[in-house]
Order: sequence, then structure tokens, then C-alpha cells
Amino acid sequence: MKIAVAGKGGVGKTFVSATLARLLARDGYSVLAVDADPNLNLGYSLGLEYEAANKIVPLTGNEALIKEKTGASPEEALGNIFNMNPRVNDIVDRFGVNAPDNVKLLVMGTVKGGGTGCMCGANALLRVLLQHMLIQRGEILVMDMVAGLEHIGRGTARRMDAMIVVIEPRMKSVDTVRRILKMAEEIEVKTILAVGNKVMRDKDEVFINEKMKKLGVPVIALIPYDQSVADADMEGIPTIDYAPNSLAVKAVKELEELLIERYKP
Ligand SMILES: Nc1ncnc2c1ncn2[C@@H]1O[C@H](COP(=O)(O)OP(=O)(O)OP(=O)(O)O)[C@@H](O)[C@H]1O
Ligand SMILES: [Mg+2]
Repeated sequence: MKIAVAGKGGVGKTFVSATLARLLARDGYSVLAVDADPNLNLGYSLGLEYEAANKIVPLTGNEALIKEKTGASPEEALGNIFNMNPRVNDIVDRFGVNAPDNVKLLVMGTVKGGGTGCMCGANALLRVLLQHMLIQRGEILVMDMVAGLEHIGRGTARRMDAMIVVIEPRMKSVDTVRRILKMAEEIEVKTILAVGNKVMRDKDEVFINEKMKKLGVPVIALIPYDQSVADADMEGIPTIDYAPNSLAVKAVKELEELLIERYKP
């Protein structure tokens, strides 16, 4: 099962990714959680100590690694001779960090301005690494990412089972879904599914369902707005540990079961 979680800033991507990863791992699956968000807070949300999480250097910021693997400095432009096909099968073992419930965390980082034109060393490394994780590795992959999909190449995107777009009952987050859909089509992502989060009222639910129906995106889960998610955040404890029986965690559990049923890892 290879899944990416995307959506507008602050909608709950990291909460969903971290909780999903922990629940899958508790059910006995090997889970690789990948942080592809420049904010780098998946480790913390998975339950790593603040200090430990903060110490992790994202792969895209590891100049020595990029040089070792591609022969290029992180920002070096294509045209210089560097290895576009670095061997990456040692990276998860070398840089993966153990998080609670045996989730393995890889902090990948993103490439700034890594749009279509940029083929710098860091970007080349990310592309090949993603390809490796999607095609050659057997773990469940849960990737916490931003809206931008530029480092997922065509061909690689097709190997992803689904991209889950988290949305809030707000117009701005619907606009982000529109943009994601356009990018996803370009790189040929097979399946896009929506998860509504921070749902408070029937009106929120109706809004999410209607807007997604218009865009042709199935809504596979609705997660309520839950004070315990905010409380857990203030305590610096993952919600799954702070409030394991909260409605929000229960809703992610249902999402997890649905994904297992659908993709039978
Ligand atoms: N179901 C929920 N109920 C209440 N609060 C929530 C819920 N889901 C997320 N939150 C809160 O919303 C905030 C944003 O959540 P989170 O960090 O998971 O979003 P994100 O999409 O990863 O954000 P970013 O784009 O900054 O990475 C956090 O403070 C979190 O505690
Ligand atoms: Mg986040």
C-alpha cells in the first residue's frame, strides 16, 4: 500500500499521516512514514522526542549525501555531469529513524523551487529514491507532503495506490484540491481520494460532500473536529497516545480499515 497525503496548509495532513502510520504499524504492517513537507513535523507527530525529531537532517539538506549519490551539489544545474541514477537502496536503512510502534521515519524534505525546470542533485536524488520506495520496497508507504507534486515523476506516480487529499470545510481547501487534481493528472496519479477533516456540523459534511462530488473525488472518510487533537498538540503528545479513544482517532482507524480492505497490503 503506497499512499501520499496532500492538501492545503494546516488542514491536518500530518495528523492524518502520523495516526494512519501508527495504526497500520500496530496492526503488524511494516510502515515507512516519509516526511516530504518542508515543515518537517511528522517525526514529532509520530511521537519522537522533540529534540530527536529536531536533530534529523532532511535528505535534501544533506549535501554530503547528495554529492555522494549524484556527484552534484544540491543546487547544481543539469548539464554538469552527475549521476542521474544514483543507487539509493541503502538510504532507508542509513537514514530511517525508528519511531513508536515500529514506524520507520524517513525525513526526505523538499526541493525549494523544484519545479519542472530544476533538475538539481537533490531533485534527482528524491526522484530516484521515491521510485525505489514505490516500486522496490515492500513496506507500506505513507507520505506526508505539501500540495506540490513536482518531485514525483511520471511513471513513479502511477505506482502510488492513492493520493489522499485532506480537506477542511473551507473554500480555500477546495481550491487546493482543484490545483492538486490538475497536477495529479499531469503526472498520472491513478486514484485521488478525499478525507474531510475538522468536521463540526452537518453543514460541513454537506459542503465537503457536495464540493468533492462536483470535482469527482470520492470522500472516503470524515474526521470530526476534536478538541483532543488540539489538546494533544499542546501537550506535545501524539493524539493516538494522548486520546486513543477520541472520535478523531476512531475516524482515522476507520480510514485505516478501509484502506487495508481496498489495497490489501
Ligand atoms: N480533527 C481535528 N480536530 C481538531 N484539531 C485538528 C484536527 N486535525 C488537525 N487539527 C489541528 O490542526 C492543526 C494543523 O494540523 P496538522 O499539522 O496535522 O496539519 P497539516 O496539514 O500537516 O499542516 P501543515 O500544512 O502546516 O503541515 C494542528 O494544530 C492540529 O492539532
Ligand atoms: Mg504538516
